[in-house]
Amino acid sequence: MPSASSHIHAAIAAANGAIPFSEFMSLALYGEDGFYSSTGRAGRRGDFITSPEVGPLFGTVLARYIDHVWNSLGSHHNFTIVEVGAGPGTLARSILAAAPQCLVNGTYVAVEISASQRASHPDGITSTDAMPESIEYGVIIANELLDNLPFELWVYDDGWREAYITSSGEGFNEVLMNKPVPSFLPSRAPLGSRASMQTAAGKWLADASRTLKNGNIVAIDYCTALTAEVASMPWREWLRTYASHERGVHYLRNVGDQDITTQVLIDQLSSVREPDAIRTQSQFLQLWGIDELVEEGKRSWEAAASAPSLAAMKMRSRIAESEALLDPTGLGNFTVLEWVQ
Ligand SMILES: C[S@@+](CC[C@H](N)C(=O)[O-])C[C@H]1O[C@@H](n2cnc3c(N)ncnc32)[C@H](O)[C@@H]1O
Repeated sequence: MPSASSHIHAAIAAANGAIPFSEFMSLALYGEDGFYSSTGRAGRRGDFITSPEVGPLFGTVLARYIDHVWNSLGSHHNFTIVEVGAGPGTLARSILAAAPQCLVNGTYVAVEISASQRASHPDGITSTDAMPESIEYGVIIANELLDNLPFELWVYDDGWREAYITSSGEGFNEVLMNKPVPSFLPSRAPLGSRASMQTAAGKWLADASRTLKNGNIVAIDYCTALTAEVASMPWREWLRTYASHERGVHYLRNVGDQDITTQVLIDQLSSVREPDAIRTQSQFLQLWGIDELVEEGKRSWEAAASAPSLAAMKMRSRIAESEALLDPTGLGNFTVLEWVQ
C-alpha cells in the first residue's frame, strides 16, 4: 500500500540514493500520504494544542491588534488579513467571531497547504494553498508555521556536516555529507551536536516582506535566539516529534504518522530581516488587552451567574484560556516576532 515511507523511498531512489533531510521532512509532512496531507492537525481531537485551539480568546486579542494596525494605516477598505499555515481554520473562526472593524469591508485569506485541512475552513473567508501575490494594506499572521517548515539538518562529527537520508531496507538511515558550513554554526561543538538551518523559514519571511506593501507581518512560535544555543543542547530538546498529544519517536521512524518541528532560530530570521519587535506571547497579549477581556468575561459571568447562558459560559472560559495562553512555562513563553512594512 502506498505510504509516506514508500514515496520517500522512491524519491531517494530517484536521487541516486540520498536526499537532504529538508526534502525528507517535506515529504514526511506534506508529500502524498504525509502527516499533514492525511490526518495530522492541531486541535483537541488532533495531535497538539496551539494557542488558537485553547479557545476563542487568542483570536479576540489578535482581532484587537489587527484593528489597531488597520487604524494606524488609515482604515482602508481593501484591508486583508492573511493567515498562513491556517490549519483547520480555528483562528479564522475566532477572529471572524470577534468581528474586527477592518473586516467590515476587508478580506480574510487562510493559506493552508493541506487540502484535508482546507476542507474544514469556515465560510466567509478565502481558503487557498498559496499566498496572494500582492497585498496593499494588511497583516500576515503565522502561528506555529515556521517551526514546521522543512529545514536542513547539520550534525557535528569532528566538523559540521549536512545530514542526508538514505534507504535502509524498509527504514531510513542518515549519512553525513561535507558541504560549505553555514556561518551560524559555532566553530566547535560537542560530538553528535545538531542544528537546523532554516532556509525555508527565511524565504517565507522574504516572500511575505515582498508581498505586503503596508502593514505588519507577525510570526508566533517557539523560538531560540541563537543557532549556537541549539547546537549545544541535547538535540531532542529542539528537534521534536509529536503525535496524538504525545511526544513522538525518532524522526526517521513512524514516518508520516508524526509531526516534525524545530525551535525557530531568531538569528537566522534576523539575517533576512531584523524584526521590529520581539516579545513573549504573554507580553504581546497583555499589550493588546487580554487582561481587560478576562475582566469583561468575569463581569459577564457574575451578572449571568443565577441563570447562566452559553454566552456567559464562554465569557467565563476566558479565565482558564488566559491562564493557558500566558503560562510562562508554556504558550506564554512563545515568541511574537513583528516586522512592520
Ligand atoms: C503546527 S500547524 C499550526 C496550525 C495553526 N496555525 C494553529 O496554530 O493551530 C502548522 C500548519 O502549517 C501548515 N503549513 C506548512 N507549510 C505550509 C505552507 N508552505 N503554506 C501553508 N501552510 C503550511 C501545515 O499544513 C499545518 O496545518
